[in-house]
Amino acid sequence: MASFSSSAKVIVTLAFLVLFIGSSSAQLSTNFYSQSCPRLFPTVKSAVQSAISKEARIGASILRLFFHDCFVNGCDGSLLLDDTSSFTGEKRAAPNVNSARGFDVVDNIKSAVENVCPGVVSCADILAIATRDSVVTLGGPSWNVKLGRRDARTASQAAANRSIPPPTSNLNALISSFSAVGLSTRDMVALSGSHTIGQARCTNFRARIYNETNLDSSLAQTRQGNCPRIAGSGDNNLAPLDLQTPTTFENNYYKNLVNQRGLLHSDQQLFNGGSTDSLVRTYSSNPSTFNSDFVAAMIKMGDIKPLTGSNGEIRKNCRRRN
Ligand code: HEM
Ligand SMILES: *[C@@H]1O[C@H](CO)[C@@H](O)[C@H](O)[C@H]1NC(C)=O
Ligand SMILES: *[C@@H]1O[C@H](CO)[C@@H](O)[C@H](O)[C@H]1NC(C)=O
Repeated sequence: MASFSSSAKVIVTLAFLVLFIGSSSAQLSTNFYSQSCPRLFPTVKSAVQSAISKEARIGASILRLFFHDCFVNGCDGSLLLDDTSSFTGEKRAAPNVNSARGFDVVDNIKSAVENVCPGVVSCADILAIATRDSVVTLGGPSWNVKLGRRDARTASQAAANRSIPPPTSNLNALISSFSAVGLSTRDMVALSGSHTIGQARCTNFRARIYNETNLDSSLAQTRQGNCPRIAGSGDNNLAPLDLQTPTTFENNYYKNLVNQRGLLHSDQQLFNGGSTDSLVRTYSSNPSTFNSDFVAAMIKMGDIKPLTGSNGEIRKNCRRRN
């Protein structure tokens, strides 16, 4: 009896712990800074618009930073930390090295926010708002961004290597890497619509354009023109993920997939005779379904393991801990 009641206590305690940890995202709220930083939204928006007017691709780059931050131990700004002599961060992890960009723009947005409310807004939240504003500026849907995340004091290169799916992934691998952070297959397909904007490097699509048969042959030929077959030559040459409109956020990505015009191996996996084909067709012909699923999935991704309360810190400089 005594042993029963003590194990019951353990179970009750565990249940509370699970509830407590599980509800940490419930502490995020859309009005988190409404008193402490009333000019936050217009400040971020104008900095994002000015960066995009200089280079439209930067909107895509910022969106990708948010994805790569959230998938690695949650949306905690860990990706933004620079390496130091005693610390290796995420910037040089396999999915980010020579590829993740826009850190200077995040710095500019952070400075603009520090000017209006010093020491108040986390880098993790600034990235979340800048991502929404990037999507909207490039023509995509809008949403209310949940806020109240705090910044990590550390980062993990190993976790970045392991948690962000590579473009060689097949459908099952894509499904399981999203499921590992609590995102469904539907979320995965909707979030992949982000590849309606931005660019990829030859090294990430070479094998596909020379070796795969589920690819439109004229697209393969065009891409081969700027991506030499030999590994190591032209590795960083760029091609648009969406061949028609790489700076407009719409559902064109799915129209491309239906026509075997996905640039990455992983892209075409979403429409290759498998379980996600019908959803790709739906998004390709129904922009409003795509928009609402994309928004719902972005909000879910933004809820991944935030640091809240007294965890983490509000970094002064997004590149280093205070
Ligand atoms: C489904 C699994 C995914 C894989 C395998 C993948 C892989 C990639 C790769 C290989 C690139 C090109 C990087 C380079 O060559 O330098 C890329 C670019 C990009 N990805 Fe993804 N990605 C995935 C999902 C996502 C998600 C969920 C988002 C956003 C929510 C996203 C947003 C972007 C954007 C916007 C770019 C273009 C960035 C730029 O032009 O700077 N991706 N992705
Ligand atoms: C992560 O991947 C990079 C690039 O492949 C590699 O150099 C590095 O050693 C890896 N780091 C860890 C901690 O696994
Ligand atoms: C294409 O596949 C062959 C056979 O697997 C391989 O040897 C070759 O390196 C691949 N080519 C590219 C460009 O990936």
